[in-house]
Amino acid sequence: MFVLDLILKKRNGMKLSREEIEYFVRGYTDGDIEDYQAAAFLMAVYFQGMDADETLYLTEAMLHSGDIVDLSEIPGIKTDKHSTGGVGDKTTLIVAPVVASCGVPVAKMSGRGLGHTGGTIDKLESIPGFQTSLTREQLIRNVKEIGLAVAGQTGNLAPADKKIYALRDVTGTVENISLIAASIMSKKLASGSDAIVLDVKVGSGAFMKSMDDAGKLAKMMVDISRGAGKKAVAVLTRMDNPLGMNIGNALEVAEAVDILKGHGPEDLREVCIELAANMLMLGGKGTLDSCRELAARSIADGSAFRKLIEMVERQGGDPSVLEDTRRLPAAPVKAEYKAEKAGYIIQMNAEKFGMASVALGAGRKTIADKIDPSAGIVLLKKYGDIVEKGEPIAVLHTSEKETMPDALKILEGSVITGEKSPPEVPIILGRIE
Ligand code: URA
Repeated sequence: MFVLDLILKKRNGMKLSREEIEYFVRGYTDGDIEDYQAAAFLMAVYFQGMDADETLYLTEAMLHSGDIVDLSEIPGIKTDKHSTGGVGDKTTLIVAPVVASCGVPVAKMSGRGLGHTGGTIDKLESIPGFQTSLTREQLIRNVKEIGLAVAGQTGNLAPADKKIYALRDVTGTVENISLIAASIMSKKLASGSDAIVLDVKVGSGAFMKSMDDAGKLAKMMVDISRGAGKKAVAVLTRMDNPLGMNIGNALEVAEAVDILKGHGPEDLREVCIELAANMLMLGGKGTLDSCRELAARSIADGSAFRKLIEMVERQGGDPSVLEDTRRLPAAPVKAEYKAEKAGYIIQMNAEKFGMASVALGAGRKTIADKIDPSAGIVLLKKYGDIVEKGEPIAVLHTSEKETMPDALKILEGSVITGEKSPPEVPIILGRIE
């Protein structure tokens, strides 16, 4: 078999066999297939798509590219969550401690930023000292002892996804249902939890822009999960606006802390309660309604925040930056993005806000790029707010002042205003079980 044949076959819209997909995954993971050919293959998949069989073969090949973690020595129903990627999506930092503090163990493997979206591991690394690479033994010990661990893809877990994910991030090949489904499900099935909640984002800041595509992705992932004998629920959530007010790694940690201290923006809180409630329900804590109350209580009584502190201490981080978030990395350079026209904000292009954050240093433009933990954007206004022409809508943060003009340029036209107040829109759009 030659990789060029597979590229041509997929480029020409033909279906690949299990053996061909396994050959690609093994070859790229082992380094026998070069980045440039893998990139061409992914671009062919991006344009031609994969059917349900091919997606399953890809998921299984990626799942079996490394170890499958056995968490059976941890008592209880281990739950996990995964987001398909959004802008300002810091839900894991909130949901994981909420669920763990309610007595359902969370052993979570998270990713880095992808395209214009952020990743939990980059966010956690903005906490000084925080270790995101845990061995399997450390992960299990932490979950057994404190009910919670959030780590990067440990050692040899789905190494094929690790490589393909990093390549997709910088080759414009992220937004494909099969590639996303296989990427997420290979990791989730390899990471050993019993139940999975999938947060499928829909809208301008998501990889899936339409409900139709998001629904297909959600169903595909729930079906793969069921086929593998794991309980799964997909929650479809709106991602037209950035979630919350802060985008960027340290900025998002600070906002997550705000929510866990009982403050913070309502849209973020609502999504977190919904995701946590679904995890608690799968974890056997009662009905969805009673689990929503349980989740809200763990924030109100401070137990979820204490759980986050405990996890940070366990993983070598400095908890004092969470007690006082002004001690997190802060950007020396700031600039305002101002309203181009007066009126009600009727549309915010979350993807542009994500891309501007990447330009400021919050994400990667090449595989080798280093993240600036302090970079990002703080929104001052959101959907439905009224603005005057020239009024600041957001403050941009960076350590590299040369990035500022590019970021401001990306934001041009990202906020649309109108004369009438726009309708209220729900943030939870659906649920697939
Ligand atoms: N999250 C992942 O882990 N993979 C994707 O492809 C998209 C979001």
